[in-house]
Amino acid sequence: MTAGSQKILIVEDDPGVQSQMKWALSDFEIAIADDRNSAIAQARRFDPNVVILDLGMPPDEAGATEGLAVLEAILAISPRTKIIVASGHSGREAAVKSVQLGAYDFCAKPVDIEILKMIIDRACHVQALEADALTATRDKTSEPFEGVLAASPQMLKVCRGVERVASADVSVLFTGESGTGKEVLAKALHRASPRANNPFVAINCAAIPENLLESELFGHEKGAFTGAVKQTIGKIEQATTGTLFLDEIGDMPLPLQAKLLRFLQERKIERIGGRKTIEVDVRIVSATNMDLEAAIQNGGFREDLFYRLNEIAFEIPPLRERDGDALLLAKFNLEKLSGLYNKKIKEFSTLAKRGIELYDWPGNVRELENKMKRAVVLSDGKTITAEDLELELDDSEDVNFPTLRQVREKAEFDVVNRALAVTDNNVSQAAKLLGVSRPTLYELLKTLGVKV
Ligand SMILES: Nc1ncnc2c1ncn2[C@@H]1O[C@H](COP(=O)(O)OP(=O)(O)OP(=O)(O)O)[C@@H](O)[C@H]1O
Ligand SMILES: [Mg+2]
Repeated sequence: MTAGSQKILIVEDDPGVQSQMKWALSDFEIAIADDRNSAIAQARRFDPNVVILDLGMPPDEAGATEGLAVLEAILAISPRTKIIVASGHSGREAAVKSVQLGAYDFCAKPVDIEILKMIIDRACHVQALEADALTATRDKTSEPFEGVLAASPQMLKVCRGVERVASADVSVLFTGESGTGKEVLAKALHRASPRANNPFVAINCAAIPENLLESELFGHEKGAFTGAVKQTIGKIEQATTGTLFLDEIGDMPLPLQAKLLRFLQERKIERIGGRKTIEVDVRIVSATNMDLEAAIQNGGFREDLFYRLNEIAFEIPPLRERDGDALLLAKFNLEKLSGLYNKKIKEFSTLAKRGIELYDWPGNVRELENKMKRAVVLSDGKTITAEDLELELDDSEDVNFPTLRQVREKAEFDVVNRALAVTDNNVSQAAKLLGVSRPTLYELLKTLGVKV
């Protein structure tokens, strides 16, 4: 970390002090603001690491109200900015107050430049450490929502969107190929919403025969139809105060689409064979892998219903389009399954890893889970190989073709072992044979994992 890469914003109304500081801190990248508005504008635009803030600013030069207001505004914009407060007339009390509000440190005016520089260096150092800690925890989890693994920009974008709409009561539609995680995200949305502690009720519109689906959704009274031996509460009612997840919504028969639409307009239901109208407060989340717009074109889906369900839509990208997610999911599954089946499998072979990255995953995350389960159950080694995964790759040559680095490592490994064998494990002599220094050979042995 060099001073030149650090940005400092000086907030100061006295032109004399401004130029003095600018000169003294010329090692840093400097921006200057002389009132509240320009300070806030610079905090946004310039994004400083450190702000040196004069507390006494017009219209309250003798006090600190204006300075403290700037402090709060800047911390609201970027909480990780380190603010060093310079207090003159306003005195120590105001300085203490500013630290309570989140300032990093303070120094008295007139400012001793050497002391100020020390404080700045430390502030930059602390900030860098905090930034490292933040990225480290993010890397470690890769779990934007509980149970949702994702590290690719494509999925993180979707997850951020889901998080943003969770608190609003809008209807959300998830589309995407089979096995991409539509249900997983619907549940995550529910858990991130204010309804999290209320029911999440799912109904699969494709799995239930048409004549039963209506009663599943709306419920029925005893004797409503042959076989209705007792009163049954429908899924919509069960989801009251919570979330109703309409899975495979594209498969809902047209007559029922009309009834569902009426419910969405009025937010009231009648159980089949019932006489009362029941008000129901539910949030609707639906999912489909069907192209609903095409279904609307050919008359299979109602356009008006589509707009009700689709207040916000998320298209979940297929696994093959998520950079790095397949390997992340594979590793997670390996750990989980290896524990579950009492296996000691620790890793993937290099070819297996490349295969996972290159494979098309037409069945998406579900297919990956199935392939991993099979591989873990059948494998008896410590490593999952490309064969264990049975990936059918279009271009298998590409996978079997070793990289230059693999070839080099293999050659080094072989020749180092030969040299050690010839010299009876004498590292000095082996190094001489190989034409390298002893420390170099030791380094190489370490890299190659060769034990003498
Ligand atoms: N991001 C993810 N992290 C962890 N597991 C996931 C993720 N996405 C999907 N899965 C897992 O993959 C499987 C399929 O997910 P899900 O049922 O949500 O897919 P879907 O899109 O609803 O599929 P379908 O259209 O076939 O119903 C589930 O076992 C789920 O737990
Ligand atoms: Mg599903």
